[in-house]
Amino acid sequence: MNNKNVVLAYSGGVDTTACIPYLKHEMGCERVVAMTADLGQGEDLESIRLKALQAGADEAVVIDAQDDFIARFGIPAIAANALYDRQYPLSSALGRPLIAELLVAEAQKRGFQYVAHGCTAKGNDQVRMDLAVQLLAPGLKMLAPAREWKFSRAEAVAYAESFGIKAHVSQAKPWAIDVNVLGRNVEAGFIEDLGWETTAEVWSMTRSPEQAPDQSECVTIGFDQGKPVSINGAKVSPRDLFSTLNELGGRHGVGRIDMLENRVVGLKSRELYEAPAQILLLVAHRDLEALTLPSDVTKFKRGLEEKWAELVYNGLWHSPLKLALDAFIGTTQERVTGEVTLRLYKGSAWVVQRTSPKALYRLDLVTYGSDCTFKHDSAIGFIDLFGLPSRIWSEVGNRPLAEVQ
Ligand code: ARG
Repeated sequence: MNNKNVVLAYSGGVDTTACIPYLKHEMGCERVVAMTADLGQGEDLESIRLKALQAGADEAVVIDAQDDFIARFGIPAIAANALYDRQYPLSSALGRPLIAELLVAEAQKRGFQYVAHGCTAKGNDQVRMDLAVQLLAPGLKMLAPAREWKFSRAEAVAYAESFGIKAHVSQAKPWAIDVNVLGRNVEAGFIEDLGWETTAEVWSMTRSPEQAPDQSECVTIGFDQGKPVSINGAKVSPRDLFSTLNELGGRHGVGRIDMLENRVVGLKSRELYEAPAQILLLVAHRDLEALTLPSDVTKFKRGLEEKWAELVYNGLWHSPLKLALDAFIGTTQERVTGEVTLRLYKGSAWVVQRTSPKALYRLDLVTYGSDCTFKHDSAIGFIDLFGLPSRIWSEVGNRPLAEVQ
């Protein structure tokens, strides 16, 4: 009854592999179940599952969560126009609350008291995993071997090898990679040198502008109530939509990001991201909102979008504030229906056409043509009242510029 049984979030990497013997031999776990979530990382997950068993896991499961990931995490992030630190579309961050949900479900299904992750103490992912589990299942206890041990990467490999486990990744790269259907993140290695300009081998989803085609290309993305649903007029599944846009954007060098990021734990780190589909969707979605949302809603929402991105980045996906913001954002999306055409060319994507059955654009009012129905006379009275408070301020002797008296 009081056996220490645990479900471990397992990626197949060095750290999580070394976690398996560590949980058993140093942390006294009886049963270790390795759980790998398929978020579209494009790896051979069956061999990752076998690797967990070879490392001593009592059971190893792979859960296909791609559709759920896109529908419940990727698409809401587009509705929120989410960019952390103005650049990062949260592709890696969005995966963690889902992995935590799956971990909790696996533990509860088996009646286990423990869950575990292989995150280290310096990253954001530990915060996301810990907080999500605490909010979802307060009774579950989290074990985090890689936060506890004092191993360097080489020592972690040596530790695993002492149990006869091959933890080494074949042709190890000098950086850490995290991939899912929303994008790819690369950190560590040369990237830590802020003076090092990246070279081709760190990128994989995107071409450089130099390698991108000399011919530009257009794509039309259709949205239904804020959700992307079609490409060039044809309905597509969310999975196909992401893979098509990742391929198209990547081919034109769109969605490459090299940025300095403010981590939750207070550090600044240099991060490389590739997220072509998300960047294309964000450009198109923002434009469709400009066409379909009233001015005050758009502007009010903008402030909340930054907060939403920060909450998600900080691991507060399941927090009350994030859920309340979801409700607001959800309401705003009811009219965000229509099509946006982007032109892609050598690392850039910009809007060239937009149309919506819910458009708030009124040609009869805005046109400079002779058939304009805008009430010109109203403008004078409007400015009279609009400027009244500032004018009173000026009339009582204040001047915006000291030298003009
Ligand atoms: N810095 C990024 C973030 O916080 C990337 C994290 C990638 N995770 C990883 N285990 N490599 O979202």
